[in-house]
Amino acid sequence: MTEWRERLPVPRERFIPAVVWVEDPTSDGFTSVTREDDETRWRALVEQDEPVVTQVDDGQTRPGEVGLQPSSSCSQPSLVAAMLDHLDVREGHRVLEIGTGTGWNAALLSERVGKGGHVVSVEVDPVLADTARRALTRAGHRPVVATADGTEGYPPGAPYDRVICTASVRRVPRSWIDQTRPGGVIVSPWGTDYGDDALTRLEVHEDGSAAGRLGVSLAFMRVRHQRRVYLDPTDDEAREADRSVTTLGGRELFEVTAFPRAALTIGLRVPSCYLTVEDLDDDHRMIEFHDAGSRSWARVAMVRGADAFEVRQRGPRRLWDEVDAAYSWWLDAGKPTSDRYGLTVQQDGTHDVWLDAPDSQLRWSLGL
Ligand SMILES: C[S@@+](CC[C@H](N)C(=O)[O-])C[C@H]1O[C@@H](n2cnc3c(N)ncnc32)[C@H](O)[C@@H]1O
Repeated sequence: MTEWRERLPVPRERFIPAVVWVEDPTSDGFTSVTREDDETRWRALVEQDEPVVTQVDDGQTRPGEVGLQPSSSCSQPSLVAAMLDHLDVREGHRVLEIGTGTGWNAALLSERVGKGGHVVSVEVDPVLADTARRALTRAGHRPVVATADGTEGYPPGAPYDRVICTASVRRVPRSWIDQTRPGGVIVSPWGTDYGDDALTRLEVHEDGSAAGRLGVSLAFMRVRHQRRVYLDPTDDEAREADRSVTTLGGRELFEVTAFPRAALTIGLRVPSCYLTVEDLDDDHRMIEFHDAGSRSWARVAMVRGADAFEVRQRGPRRLWDEVDAAYSWWLDAGKPTSDRYGLTVQQDGTHDVWLDAPDSQLRWSLGL
C-alpha cells in the first residue's frame, strides 16, 4: 500500500465516473476513456497518484469527441491528503467544501468529522452535484451537497470551523471569512493571474480579517467566473506590435517563468497579467503575457543559444516592461521564495501581501 492509500480511508474508485478524460498528444486536447470499453486503462488511471479528469468544457463535450479544457477532476490523492492535513480538520467540526466534483473529498471530510460533525459541499455544476450525491449515498456518507456558486459560501450551514476550496481562487471571497468562526481556518489554492497557485492557509481573526502564509505551489483549475482569459492576437496585430529586445538572457527568462524562482513575485507585483509558455520545437519558446481587460499583450520569442530575444508589445499596458521591472524588484529584494510570503484579507476585502511578517515594510495591496 502506498502512503496516500493509508491516509485516505475512502476508496477513490467508488467516486470516479465510468467516463474519464486523458490528454491526447495527437489532438492537443482530451479524449475519453470509458470503463466499459477499457476497464484496465480506467483502473490504472484511478489507482495512480495523479488527478483524474472527470469533465471537460463544462460538460459540453460528449464522450468520443475531443475536449479542450478540463472543468472537473478528482484531485491527486497525495495532494488531497496534504490539503486535509493542512486544514487540520477534527472530529465534530463543521466544514464547508467548495468544489464537490466527484464527492470523494466530501466523503473523506465526512469520515474525519465523524457523526458529531457536519459537512456541506457546494458544486456549481448541477450534473456533477447530482452524480456526487448519488456516489456519496451509495458509499454511506451524508454530507449536504448544494448546487450553488461556492464563492458565495453556503450561509445556511454557517458558522464553519473549516473551509476548504478544491479549485483555485484569485480573490478569497469575503463570504468564506464571514461564514467562518474566529480562530477557524480556510485552506485554498490561491494565486494571481500570472502563474501557479500557492496552497494558502488563512486563520480568521476576531476583527473579520484573515491572514496566513502562502505554501507550496500547485496547479488547480480555477473556480468558474475567476478563470484566466488570454488574448490571441491576429498575425496582423502581432506584426504591428512595438518591438524591442530583452536585456535578460535565457537563464533570467527561466526565472521569470518559474514559480519557485521569480514568477510568484512577478505575479504579486504585476496585476492582471496572465503568463503562457509554449515550446514550439526544441529551439524555440514563446513566452506571452496577456491582460484581456485592457487588451494588452506582449511576447518574448526565445531562441536556444541566443543572448537576447525579440519582444513585441501591444495595447495600453507595456506588459513586458512591467514584468522586467518586477523581475528587477525580485533581485533587489534578495530573491524571496514563496515560503517568505503571506496574505492578509482585510475586512473590506482588500488583499495585502507581505514578506516575512504582516507588519513588514515590504507589504502592498493587490488591486483585485
Ligand atoms: C478539482 S475539482 C474538485 C475535486 C473534488 N473535491 C473531488 O473530490 O472530486 C473542482 C470543482 O470545482 C467546481 N467549481 C468550479 N467553480 C465553482 C464554484 N464557483 N462553486 C462551486 N464549485 C465550483 C468544478 O465544477 C469542479 O467540479
